[in-house]
Amino acid sequence: MCGIVGYLGGRDAYPVLIKGLHRLEYRGYDSAGIAMVSASGELNLYKSKGKVADLERFAESKDISGTIGIAHTRWATHGEPNDLNAHPHYSQSKNLALIHNGIIENYSVLRLELESKGFRFRSSTDTEVIVYLIEYIMQTNGVDLCTAVQLALHQVVGAYAIALVAKDNPDQIIAARKSSPLVVGIGEGEYFLASDATPIVEYTDKVVYLNDGEIAVIRRDAPLKIVDLDNVEITPEVKRLAMNLSQLEKGGYPHFMLKEIYEQPQTLYNCIRGRINVEGTNVVLSGVIDNRDKFLHASRIIIVACGTSWHAALIGEHLIEDLCRIPVEVEYASEFRYRNPVICPGDIVIAISQSGETADTLAAVELAKSRGAFIYGICNVVGSSIARATDSGSYIHVGPEIGVASTKAFTGQVTVLSMLALTLARLKGTIGEDKFVRMVQGLQAIPDKIKEVLDHADAIADLSKIFTYAHNFIYLGRGYNYPAALEGALKLKEISYIHAEGYPAAEMKHGPIALIDAEMPVVAIATTDSIYEKTISNIQEIKARRGKVIAIVTEGDSVVRSIADYCIEVPRVEEPFAPLVASVPLQLLAYYIAVHKGRDVDQPRNLAKSVTVE
Ligand code: AGP
Repeated sequence: MCGIVGYLGGRDAYPVLIKGLHRLEYRGYDSAGIAMVSASGELNLYKSKGKVADLERFAESKDISGTIGIAHTRWATHGEPNDLNAHPHYSQSKNLALIHNGIIENYSVLRLELESKGFRFRSSTDTEVIVYLIEYIMQTNGVDLCTAVQLALHQVVGAYAIALVAKDNPDQIIAARKSSPLVVGIGEGEYFLASDATPIVEYTDKVVYLNDGEIAVIRRDAPLKIVDLDNVEITPEVKRLAMNLSQLEKGGYPHFMLKEIYEQPQTLYNCIRGRINVEGTNVVLSGVIDNRDKFLHASRIIIVACGTSWHAALIGEHLIEDLCRIPVEVEYASEFRYRNPVICPGDIVIAISQSGETADTLAAVELAKSRGAFIYGICNVVGSSIARATDSGSYIHVGPEIGVASTKAFTGQVTVLSMLALTLARLKGTIGEDKFVRMVQGLQAIPDKIKEVLDHADAIADLSKIFTYAHNFIYLGRGYNYPAALEGALKLKEISYIHAEGYPAAEMKHGPIALIDAEMPVVAIATTDSIYEKTISNIQEIKARRGKVIAIVTEGDSVVRSIADYCIEVPRVEEPFAPLVASVPLQLLAYYIAVHKGRDVDQPRNLAKSVTVE
């Protein structure tokens, strides 16, 4: 997510703004910038791709004077991370500078209108349209900055948190919010502005959280003024910060991993937004539509990935073969890159990577490209190496994933793979209209289904206490739930350090069942599906050997409940989407066991968030 910082008061603004950007680095970003009205009345703006440290190096030799300014870290969602697309953005005259967090959905219409009036844009961002529009309104209506902002925001459709400064008024910052958070910090004779309280907490504990549709008029040596878009004044509700810096970075959660588990309803809504229509009768993954001929004539699809992304790939294999009738092979990227694979013309290679920087996956992509395959990426980080190496792709749009153990990225990858399979099945005509609509609506409902699962988190926390001291775990699943079992086992082993293995449930009788005794906890994913009865038989085999069974079941299940030792219920969903709801209790189970064991949940030993070396 983008980060916003502003300052107006008696201090030099630059150090406050830069420190504030550092405080927001945890949110993830790919470029940074700053704008200040200098002591000599210049509106100086410095910005660069890369880290805040890169911005500091860029600004070293520049005029960084002034006691008013705004600053920004950008997490690119649309438009490559580069110097031009970084914020702040000047207005055409360079008398205004603006920063923005959010998405302006009607920016292209507004841009065309302004271009028809002679405006020439410098970047390809939606943000620049806002500041040009504000200046246009000031010039044509002869109104002040605040009024121009009000009039402009009446024309804007989308989500925004904006802040802007004017060259000819070094005593005022205007800020506004709709759907993207903004906080005003009130100090002694000074004001702070930020996306959250982390850049503010060290200076003051008095804050005002802006609400949707509100505009903050921050003026030197004057009380904070808040108005709505119709200039109706609103009394600021001043609150006292109760959290410390570390708690604030995690949004009040004890760990980033737990925060990211709880973000999943919203992140999957963001992933689906603009791809499934409101009525839930159609899904359009533009990367597939734009390359329909390649996909329609694909003789085979190979999916390369590592770790959690490889588990998502297994679900993708099942989805695409089941719905689109195209042969799919899933490969560990690290194996694929060295085994001299056969790659035929007409093959499509899908590369799945949250970070977009995994060395093995990038190498697999380069190998496949060198042999003529069409490469499709499913990444989270916009402009990442793997994203840039592919011919096309779909971003999962789940926001930065900070916890080393992947959670929201996994469900985001599976959701994009589900939309890819449905889009392609519709193109190929391999799915009937009724089933297609039923599945699209089923996928559209998943964010709310995950909310229901999260409502039972306390029961899972209690259950985890029973198994904190287990030395081994086995995770079982069949069909779509087999990869979910693998993923559940990986979650547990990588953050609790307890040995855990995932298996296809039916595979147990071919050897692993020798492991079962009263000391072996077994997690069995037994949601109601087409092979439910088979899974029940597998659970009975475990129980016959005194294994302890924790079953993930569909709500209302009474059969498994009569057999298993513990049951965790998940809502009923379409069979292919069961991993999306079943993986969440397994994320929570792993998390709480690791916490009980005192592990470093967000940064487990020996692990890195992105394995950029072999
Ligand atoms: C999963 O929890 C781990 N963080 C790890 O297995 C990860 O999924 C793997 O390294 C692949 O990373 P990527 O998706 O960024 O390529």
